[in-house]
Amino acid sequence: MNKVLVTGGCGYIGSHTIVDLIDNGFEVISIDNHVNSSRKPLKGIEKITGKKIKNYKIDLCNYNRVRKVFLENKDIVGIIHFAALKAVGESSEQPLRYFQNNFNSTLNMLEAAKEFGVKNFIFSSSCTVYGNAKELPVTEETPFQRVESPYGLTKQAGEEMIEFFSKANPKINSILLRYFNPAGAHESVLLGEAPNVALNLVPIITEVAIGKRKSITVFGDDYDTRDGSNIRDYIHVMDLANAHTKALQYLMNSNNKTNCEVYNLGIGEGASVLEVIKAFEKVSGKKLKYKIGPRRKGDVVAIYSNYKKAKRRLKWKPTRNIEDIMRTAWAWEQERSK
Ligand code: WQD
Repeated sequence: MNKVLVTGGCGYIGSHTIVDLIDNGFEVISIDNHVNSSRKPLKGIEKITGKKIKNYKIDLCNYNRVRKVFLENKDIVGIIHFAALKAVGESSEQPLRYFQNNFNSTLNMLEAAKEFGVKNFIFSSSCTVYGNAKELPVTEETPFQRVESPYGLTKQAGEEMIEFFSKANPKINSILLRYFNPAGAHESVLLGEAPNVALNLVPIITEVAIGKRKSITVFGDDYDTRDGSNIRDYIHVMDLANAHTKALQYLMNSNNKTNCEVYNLGIGEGASVLEVIKAFEKVSGKKLKYKIGPRRKGDVVAIYSNYKKAKRRLKWKPTRNIEDIMRTAWAWEQERSK
């Protein structure tokens, strides 16, 4: 069976991707130091798939420890590198921690791919690289804008590091996946987003609904959008997970790939903050308490993507919409609050 190494396998997107990889016949191992996660998702993966995933609890910035994982697993066909510090606001307060962690972990994974002859490398990137894009929907050709955070810089520069590495190591093929706004949970409610502190819109909505938070503030309703609130491209985490499986299968099987390709992973529609709240109220039957507050520093007015390139080349398409996201996110919040 083809063995895949997932870094950050105990994280939100990593754990859901492991489920999809197993569903598609891959064997998976994980490296996760639990700085932002716990072992719980491994139990959820086992309940869903019946497979016990081995997680190496090591720091990806320690190359000697990383080497040992590859010495123990000589048959790794691909690396999917999720592990990173990813709180935009926190990154502005702790830039060096973000640069050291996110750059060194990526460099070590590239080093290991080279030393141990792993031919396929997938990198978790982000729509953050586009900044305040002028044209919408963004495509993979939309130029980078200057990023607003150290986190965003680690994604922009991470992409460029991998491009240069791929040019110098043509036997190693890489794909850069630019996520838009991942949200939602696995249908089984055995996996979902479990942030220590919810920072993103969707988990904040469900925490208000379950009573963990008093109310939610909509960060501005005076933007130049259809209802004045920010627009984002929300993608269900299981659609996002499947895109990783499809990308790996493409790298392993396609004959007409170039050795470093970029794909946007959004659903091609934008939803405003107020529309997301309405979608939650519709699927839950609950009224959400919210108030309108000032704009949040660093927020882009609107961003959403098309996924034509991923559909054409990776044979991937999203199958869930914002209501599926809110339904599964709410079911997960209710489950984890029991
Ligand atoms: C979504 C919208 C807020 C909370 C971030 C990262 C991005 C990526 C996805 C990693 C915005 C509004 C939010 C609240 C609100 N992560 N909002 N009240 O900022 O689009 O993207 O997560 O790659 O890199 O930047 O996501 O969920 O924080 O905000 O009104 O209490 O919801 O203004 O318009 P964001 P978010």
